[in-house]
Amino acid sequence: MKITVFGTGYVGLVTGTCLADVGHDVVCVDIDRNKIERLVQGDIPIYEPGLESMVLRNVEARRLRFTTDAGMAVEHGVLQFIAVGTPPDEDGSADLQYVLAVASTIGQYMNGYKVVIDKSTVPVGTADKVRDRIESVLAERVADVPFDVCSNPEFLKEGSALEDFTRGARIVVGTDSDRVSDLMRECYAPYNRNREKLMFMSVRAAELTKYAANAMLATKISFMNEIANLAERLGADIEDVRRGIGSDPRIGYHFIYPGCGYGGSCFPKDVQALARTASKVGYEAELLKAVEAVNKRQKSTLFEKLSHALNGELEGKTIAVWGLSFKPETDDMRDAPSRTLMEALWAHGVTVQAYDPEAMKECRRIYGERDDLILVADRIQAVKKADALVICTEWKEFRTLDAEWIRGQLSTPVVIDGRNLFDPQTMALAGVDYYAVGRGKTLSTSAPV
Ligand code: UDX
Repeated sequence: MKITVFGTGYVGLVTGTCLADVGHDVVCVDIDRNKIERLVQGDIPIYEPGLESMVLRNVEARRLRFTTDAGMAVEHGVLQFIAVGTPPDEDGSADLQYVLAVASTIGQYMNGYKVVIDKSTVPVGTADKVRDRIESVLAERVADVPFDVCSNPEFLKEGSALEDFTRGARIVVGTDSDRVSDLMRECYAPYNRNREKLMFMSVRAAELTKYAANAMLATKISFMNEIANLAERLGADIEDVRRGIGSDPRIGYHFIYPGCGYGGSCFPKDVQALARTASKVGYEAELLKAVEAVNKRQKSTLFEKLSHALNGELEGKTIAVWGLSFKPETDDMRDAPSRTLMEALWAHGVTVQAYDPEAMKECRRIYGERDDLILVADRIQAVKKADALVICTEWKEFRTLDAEWIRGQLSTPVVIDGRNLFDPQTMALAGVDYYAVGRGKTLSTSAPV
């Protein structure tokens, strides 16, 4: 099938590449000339395990092409995926300007039947806006070209996006057209072989499914973080509680790990956008607002615990930070807890000495060269001459820590662990002042009831 993908960001690149990999003829188009030039040269702008080799082999096989030529791209595919960004605008709503600009482009160049597919996470009702935009551009051209708009949200996790695309739990397609259903079935047939994964529903249900999925997952995390904060203050171990509740199949073990808050490109923005959508239709989504508020508070606990452990004496200190990305296996630092921490540290005159296996380039891009940000080559260098250590991301290489060794490295043996990687008792026995999440030491000054 001939397929066009607008947007060579994370979602567009993974979608285009995975569709090319099963034999489709894919053109990926972007207005960012620099990005396209890099891609043409085989330089992949994001880190995602397995993506680079998959891109290269499909480019080599001429099934995957990159271009800035929108006219050629629109002409190419019967399926036109829109996978451009939908950043939050000032009030937290998803900003649709890029999606609608693509709709205009499609309207401008299309000369035959097209299925326009919203792949980006877009608010409920966006497919109607995309349709209206294309219709108005066609009207200006005095052209009568048939097209359909459908919703096909992605459920990709960074770090396992290829696996999620090729072996995902479901493929949601929102459409009321049989023609679209047949074309989408054909498009996804190679990934729909062993069991029926395609779920057809209305466009609005598909659009809402994406937000509901992310909001549900974010809710699970904020709920666990709330219980962890309580457990800490009540003298219970959240790890026991996690196992205790996860064993109930109605609850399950997935996504109930407490931590220093969720980040990334999806949860923070989608929870906010859904709450905004709700208030636009006259409904105050109290739960969603609380999920967001709990997460915001959770991201500041790393700094609060550190400040507590150091008796508020932060000025002039050097703090080691292990992990900058919002989760392992990605270089993405969007809304990462490490950023909340570092920004608070800098505001208090602290120097950050950080290490991350993948995200240091990204960190430099965001914060630039500054005296109070030292990026080092490995985790050992990060703790050299540091006063305390904060762990923000659970990269595999951080999962072992010799308690005696770390005590010897840090001037005040304080370790703040935002990911519950170690046993509080072992740490305490070795003389490390160790703060985890929902277990061991607490910030609370009041005694457990
Ligand atoms: C998420 C969704 O999982 C995916 O389906 C959607 O398409 C995009 O958003 P992603 O943002 O890549 O994917 O990351 P994910 O692995 O879901 O983690 C999100 C955040 O939640 C991370 O910051 C992670 O550290 C945190 N998290 C996750 C927890 O704190 N506890 C958990 O139990 C699980």
